[in-house]
Formats: sequence, C-alpha cells, structure tokens
Amino acid sequence: MDEKLMDNSMNHPRIPMDILLQSRTPFYYYDMEVLHQTLEEIKRHTAGMNCVVHYALKANGNFNIISEIAKYGLGADLVSGNEIKAAIEAGFPAHEMAFSGVGKTDWEIKLGLEKGIGCFNVESIPELDIINQLASEMGKTAPIAIRVNPDIDAHTHKYITTGTAENKFGIGIKALLPVVRHALELPHIHLRGLHFHIGSQITQMQPYVMLCQTINALQDHYEQQGIRFEMINVGGGLGIDYNDPDTHLIPDFKSYFSTFKQHLNVRPNQLIHFELGRTIVGQCGSLITRVVFVKENRNKKFIIVDAGMTDLIRPALYGAYHKIENLTAGQAEPMEVYDVVGPVCESTDVFAHDRELPLTKRGDLLAVRSAGAYGESMASTYNMRDLPGSIFSSPL
Ligand code: LLP
Repeated sequence: MDEKLMDNSMNHPRIPMDILLQSRTPFYYYDMEVLHQTLEEIKRHTAGMNCVVHYALKANGNFNIISEIAKYGLGADLVSGNEIKAAIEAGFPAHEMAFSGVGKTDWEIKLGLEKGIGCFNVESIPELDIINQLASEMGKTAPIAIRVNPDIDAHTHKYITTGTAENKFGIGIKALLPVVRHALELPHIHLRGLHFHIGSQITQMQPYVMLCQTINALQDHYEQQGIRFEMINVGGGLGIDYNDPDTHLIPDFKSYFSTFKQHLNVRPNQLIHFELGRTIVGQCGSLITRVVFVKENRNKKFIIVDAGMTDLIRPALYGAYHKIENLTAGQAEPMEVYDVVGPVCESTDVFAHDRELPLTKRGDLLAVRSAGAYGESMASTYNMRDLPGSIFSSPL
C-alpha cells in the first residue's frame, strides 16, 4: 500500500490521499499497522512472564480496534456493563475479564456473574457484600480482587491520579486487613488477589518501583498472617510521548515490564495482571479535521477547525498537549503562530494555544496526533453535534 501514501516528509499518520480528500471530516484515522506493532511489542516483552495483559476498553471501545486487540490474546479491563457486552462481542474470553469501578450497579454485577468474568475488582465493603448476595441468589461464586489504594503519587495530572489517599478509588492499606478477612469468610466470594492502579500517563518508572515495594511489603505482611494471593493486578497507566509521537511511536514497554520483573517479588505460581489502555491505542489514532476559517483578532491568529472538544476533549479537560500537523500545506510555507480552536460554544474548546504551524488556509486538513486513547471513547454530542467517524488503514 506504500505507493498510495501521501508523499510528505512525515511517516505518520500515513493516510492515503484518496481517503484524506474524500472523507467527511472530522474523523479518527487509525493506523492498524501501528496497533499491530504495539501489540507485538507487548507480546515480546511479556514472553516468559506468568501474566495476563488486560486492555482497558475505556481508552478506545471502537469495535474494529477491540476485536483486533482480542486476537492477540489479551484480557479486558472493563468499567461498565456495556463494556462487558462489547468485550464479549469483540471476542475477549470472559475468564480473562476484570471488572473495575467504584459504582457497579446490580445489573452490571449480575451480567458479570452470568457471563463468568474472571475477576471483579472490588472497591468497598458494601460492594463486596452485594456481590456476595447477588452471587448467592444466582447460585454462583464471584472471583474477586480487592482494589488497594496504595497512597502513591504518580506525579501525573491531578484529574488522572488515582492512587493517593484523597482519591475515591480503592481501600487504604490500613483498612485492608479486615476487608480481606471479611472476603475470605463470605461463602459466595473467591478472593483471588489484590488490585492496584496508581494513575495514568505515567512517564517515570519510579512510581512503579514504589508500587512494587508496597506490594512486596504487603505480601510479606499478609503471608505472616497465613494469607496468600494467587494473583496481583498492578493496573496500568504507562504514558506515551505526546510531544514527539514519531520518535516514540511504540511506548517504552521494555522499561515498564522490566521494572516489574526486577522489583516485584512474585510468589511461586502467582499470576500478574496488567491493565494497559493508553499505550496500546494512543499512537495509532489521529483526529483528522478540516480548517473552516482562519481569522485574526487583536494580533492573534485563530485556526477554526470542524472538530471540537466534542470529538477530542483532552485539551479542554486536562489542558493536554497533542501535536498538530497540517497535512495539506506545502513544504515551503512560512511558519506562523496560531491558536487552533473548535466550533463548540465553550471558551475551553481549544486544541492548541500559540502553536507554530505552516501558513494555514481554509480547507486545509490537520491531524491531531496521539488521539487513539481517550479520544473517540470520550466523544459527546454536545451542541447536537455528530459523533466523529472512524477510518482504518487496512481493510478489515
Ligand atoms: N486500570 C484502571 C483501574 C484504570 O482506572 C485505568 C484508567 C486503566 C487501568 C488504564 O489506564 P491507562 O493505561 O490507559 O493509563 N481520560 C484520561 C485518562 C483516564 C484514565 C482512567 N483510568 C486521559 O485522557 O488522559
């Protein structure tokens, strides 16, 4: 397919010209080869480890994406009944599904029990009791892990920090032992292990080293009480390079997995669960949008595009940086400084402030890069806008 690709200096997103020019914008463009390479890398770096990597569907639940991921034998990390349904339809095996979330409702718990999912990641005593009760009514035993809040600051954006004491997630270490004992006593609960997740877009390995140390100390302590776990879920959260996606198209899985190999004291026959979302799908997706107008206000130049915060909310919600490329500007155009904004009636509907881009004009096509994770899955119809479309690089 290479000769069909646009002949421009960048290698990604490699969007065929006919797709680019004929498709209705805005749309997500997914480079399936990048997705496959990413999954291959995960396979390579986990070879020989007694582990299951669960894909966190919340990052991107597009059917074509999740069914490709399922083919690689990954498990699924789910946070709603509808995600359970989608994962089953995509081909993930039920026994490799983990169901997280602080507010699981009865129908969602029942669905998980009925489908025979591999693990409920339980976040509170009331939830534990309800799962036990519903499992008893259905004549089943629920496999669970208890989500621990390890009080580790992953030094990431405060909206995506999950493992500190002030977050709603999990049970604090000091309060944990009675919950573990309670779980062990409940007749319709099978306690498999402990679950941790310290945050998202984590680019340093130090917080993971601290997580391993915390888990090691906890396991030592619990073993003295005669409690052993068959499984430990270390969560996800590894970050991607938003600034320079082409240099780091495949995330640094080597450092990530070797951190756990080196620092986590895995017990004999103990299974490790990982739950990765962003690193699996982040770099394969770009949001493609068309320039509607270029306007100037008090010495500021605005590029107004047809995509908005309804299509990709990360810049508006977290002030997140995404690289933006003009796919149709000529190579020789001079550079200008712009704010790139959407059409939605909100002042935060801004993709970039003071961004250098080649001279841009009405009709140009821009790619907002690294948008495969938490892009399409967080889209909304605010202002009664259409949801963005999706186009894939290879025939599916
Ligand atoms: N496991 C649990 C329990 C989680 O809460 C999450 C993400 C993951 C795994 C996957 O984390 P990942 O590997 O994708 O970092 N919308 C935000 C990110 C929210 C993350 C929520 N939890 C963003 O756009 O940055």
